[in-house]
Amino acid sequence: METVTKNLFLFLSKNNWLNEMAKKRGGNIVTGKIIAGTDFPSSVQIIKELNTRGLATTVDHLGEFVNSEKTAVERTEEAIATIETISRERLDSHMSVKMTSLGLDIGRDLVISNMTSILDTAEKHGVMVTIDMEDEPRCEKTLELFKQFKQSYNCISTVLQAYLYRTEQDLKELSSLKPFLRLVKGAYKEPQTVAYPDKKDVDENYKKLIEQSFRLGLYTAIATHDDHMIEYTKGLAARLQIPNNQFEFQMLYGMRNKTQLELVEQGYKMRVYVPYGRDWYGYFMRRLAERPANISFAFKGFVKN
Ligand code: FDA
Repeated sequence: METVTKNLFLFLSKNNWLNEMAKKRGGNIVTGKIIAGTDFPSSVQIIKELNTRGLATTVDHLGEFVNSEKTAVERTEEAIATIETISRERLDSHMSVKMTSLGLDIGRDLVISNMTSILDTAEKHGVMVTIDMEDEPRCEKTLELFKQFKQSYNCISTVLQAYLYRTEQDLKELSSLKPFLRLVKGAYKEPQTVAYPDKKDVDENYKKLIEQSFRLGLYTAIATHDDHMIEYTKGLAARLQIPNNQFEFQMLYGMRNKTQLELVEQGYKMRVYVPYGRDWYGYFMRRLAERPANISFAFKGFVKN
C-alpha cells in the first residue's frame, strides 16, 4: 500500500495542470513550513535566523522541467540575483540548481551558456553552486556537464543517488576531480532496470557510498533524515578518523528541526536545503511521496483551498 501511495504522488508530481493550479493559488499553505517564501527577498530573514542558530543553508529557486528558452533565461537571471544577495547579505549559504530549470531539455548550448553565467557570478562571490540530481534519464547529461564545468570552476558540486545501480561507478570516476558531493537516497520514480526497487538495498548502497566517499578523501554531504544513516555516519567517521570538517549533514527545511540543532550542538556541520519560489508543487509532491506525515498540514490545506 505504501508503495502504491508513493508511486501515485510521484506520478502526480509531474502533472502540469496541478502544477499550474498550485502556482495560481500561491504558496501560503507551504510558506514558512517547507519553503521559505515565494521570492528570495522574502526568504532572507528565515535564512538569517537559521544561520544565527549555527545552521548553514543551500537555497533552491523552485522550478524544474522548463521547456521554454525564455523561462530558462529568467531562471538564470534569478539564480545570479540570488547569489549576489547571498554575498551582499553575508549569508552562510550555497545555492542549489536544477539543470532542467536552466534548459537541459531544450539544448546543450543553452544550458551551458546559462550555467556559465551563474558560475562566473558564483566564483566572483565565493558561493558554492550544487547541481541537484534529477531523474535518471538526465543523470548522464548532468554528470557530463558537471565534469566539464569542474575543469574550470571550483565553486561547483553535485549530487549522487544511492538508488541507482550506476552510482558506485560514477563516484569512482568523479573522484579524481576531488568534488564536493551530496549523497542522497534518490527521490524520483525509477524503473527496476536502473534503480534498486527495494528500500533495503538502497539503504545498503547508501552506506557503501558514504564509506567509499570517505575512503576516497572527498568532502561529503550526507543528506538524509534517517537516524540510522546519521548514526552510521558518525560511527564510520570515528572509525576511519575522518575529521568533522571533511563532511556535513544536510536536511530539508522544515524537516527534523530539533535533530538539525542537536547535530550542531554535537559539533557537526549541518546544512539546511531551503527552497523558495512559486513553483513549489513538484517539490511538495516528492516530499509527500517520501513521508506523508511530514506535510499532512499542507496537504489538507491544498485540498481545502
Ligand atoms: P527515508 O525516506 O529513507 O526514511 C528513512 C527513515 O528516516 C524513516 O523511516 C523515518 O524513520 C526517518 N525519517 C525520514 N524523514 C523523516 C522526517 N522528515 N522526520 C522524521 N523522521 C524521518 N533527491 C534527489 O533525487 N536529488 C537531489 O538532488 C536531492 N537533494 C536533496 C537534498 C537534501 C538536503 C535532502 C535532505 C534530500 C535530497 N533529496 C534529493 C531527497 C532524497 O533523495 C530522499 O528522497 C529524501 O531525503 C528521503 O530519504 P531519507 O534518507 O531522508 O529518509
